[in-house]
Amino acid sequence: MGRGRRAGPAAPDPGGRLERGGATLERGDSLGCYEGWPAPTVIVSDGAYGVLGFEGDTAGPAGLPGWYEPHVRAWAAASSPRTTLWFWNTELGWASVHPVLARHGFRYVGCNVWDKGLGHVAGNVNTGTIRHFPVVTEVCAHYVREATVGGRPLQAWLLDEWRRTGLPLRRANEACGVKDAATRKYLNQGPLWYCPPPSVMERLVRYASEHGDPAGRPYFSLDGARPLDGEAWARMRAPFRCPHGVTNVWARPPMRGAERIKVPGGRAAHLNQKPLDLMARIIVASSAPGDVLWEPFGGLFSASLAATRLGRRAFAAEVDPGYFALGAARFPAYGP
Ligand SMILES: C[S@@+](CC[C@H](N)C(=O)[O-])C[C@H]1O[C@@H](n2cnc3c(N)ncnc32)[C@H](O)[C@@H]1O
Repeated sequence: MGRGRRAGPAAPDPGGRLERGGATLERGDSLGCYEGWPAPTVIVSDGAYGVLGFEGDTAGPAGLPGWYEPHVRAWAAASSPRTTLWFWNTELGWASVHPVLARHGFRYVGCNVWDKGLGHVAGNVNTGTIRHFPVVTEVCAHYVREATVGGRPLQAWLLDEWRRTGLPLRRANEACGVKDAATRKYLNQGPLWYCPPPSVMERLVRYASEHGDPAGRPYFSLDGARPLDGEAWARMRAPFRCPHGVTNVWARPPMRGAERIKVPGGRAAHLNQKPLDLMARIIVASSAPGDVLWEPFGGLFSASLAATRLGRRAFAAEVDPGYFALGAARFPAYGP
């Protein structure tokens, strides 16, 4: 039995599948929904934490890899190099599931920490009893798909293609119109690698076509027939933009006030309800209007609500009828 008590009969069960203001909300197990959803640009995972947080959550982190495995497999099958996965959890929960994500081809980008501040514990912690610093954080780990060409990651493919031209490496600098950035960054095979932006990639490709060994053409081709252009190159990577001043530590008080969904009596409806502003932050960072977002563990559908307000299309599932009804009621077109 989970610690998070279900919302109970206060919320009527409105049915199996709802279309609400740009969101498709399914009542049921997301494992049965993925095949019917269009390919995602963004996946926001906020599932089991290993803390008995809701009915079906595991009793500790050891159960998490098995819990997530079938979901991660389905996400991997539906994803493209444009897809970003945001994985919410505790620090240890995320660490336990990371090997599953990596095995299925999700590349770790970074770990964002939601710092809820002292307000989360409200000075009520007996550190002599718990014997650790009070925990006021959750993490939201950032993953993308590892794009490959012919089984090689982009980093390796770039260097291999340049070598195939027969041109010395330093000529790549000339190709890009830079002093040494091409050899130092774009063809680097270590952690200092930078993926060339589309305009630079186009220069590399043009130069290779014009000056490389004619016998090896086309160079930098995805289909073996035509060299790639900047647009195709841009599609090989997940979009990302970060507003000025945002770092990977998100100082944001815990959920309170009007945004917190309550059941009659004033109790919070869902232990894990996430702030809309943090959901909006990750959605804006990794997608454009019209893109598809998946929220496999909907709860009160915070990611989907933020997504539809930002003009994205959301596909979400929630297995608990009480949560489903309360979550669906947050969308504007809900009701008879
Ligand atoms: C951590 S909560 C999500 C909270 C949500 N992010 C919000 O802001 O309200 C996880 C939710 O996933 C639901 N869930 C667990 N397994 C599921 C599954 N296989 N399919 C659909 N929902 C699932 C649980 O009932 C729970 O409400």
